[in-house]
Amino acid sequence: LDTPVLTIDGPSGSGKGTISRLVARKLGWHYLDSGALYRAVGVAAGWGDIDLADPAALVRCTFDTEIGFRDEGDELRVLVNGQDATDELRTETAGAAASAIAAIPEVRAALKDRQRAFRQPPGLVADGRDMGTVIFPDAAHKVFLTASAEERAERRYKQLNDKGVPVTLAGLLREILARDARDASRAVAPLRPAEDAVRIDTTGLGIDEVVDRVLALMPARP
Ligand code: C5P
Repeated sequence: LDTPVLTIDGPSGSGKGTISRLVARKLGWHYLDSGALYRAVGVAAGWGDIDLADPAALVRCTFDTEIGFRDEGDELRVLVNGQDATDELRTETAGAAASAIAAIPEVRAALKDRQRAFRQPPGLVADGRDMGTVIFPDAAHKVFLTASAEERAERRYKQLNDKGVPVTLAGLLREILARDARDASRAVAPLRPAEDAVRIDTTGLGIDEVVDRVLALMPARP
């Protein structure tokens, strides 16, 4: 528990992933992409033809799914049951499945220890929805990133467009608003800033600007 943690929570498209990875690299700390765990279970459920409306089956699937990360410098590859599922994980289908699965309390409980195991010296940057509130409530540094829904939809649009995924801006905005509402209104670990989190609105800010603001919150390194 001596190992310092920086939690970066926020809604989808707030830039959490990019910012967290860059900050982790600058600090030389480990990085946890907690959303990838929920997405991985979502993908595994799809592979197993598991009904998203069957909580008991989804809980079993969570226990049975092996999730691994491989850092390839500029990219973090995610292995689901030994298979590289990085690209599939990023689809809106996986995101929507993750969001449905993430509302099941037993699934969240089953993933708790797997997330806490990432806390290794010299430090951890943890990115998600409940890093500062539930998983690492004792974290010394907590950030909550936001951005307007329109800007978040545009960022996703660019990301997916670059990858050649056919999407529309209006469709993405609808999905983002629906997912926000589901994540914020669920009974267990709803998306909300920790009381001691520093909020940063990234609307109109560039990546480097946000990284600098986050790093400015950290004590100067010896
Ligand atoms: O961050 P990302 O978009 O990859 O997360 C996918 C989904 O997983 C979110 O919409 C949310 O429902 C869920 N999630 C969560 N708690 C986390 C991380 C993600 O409930 N710590």
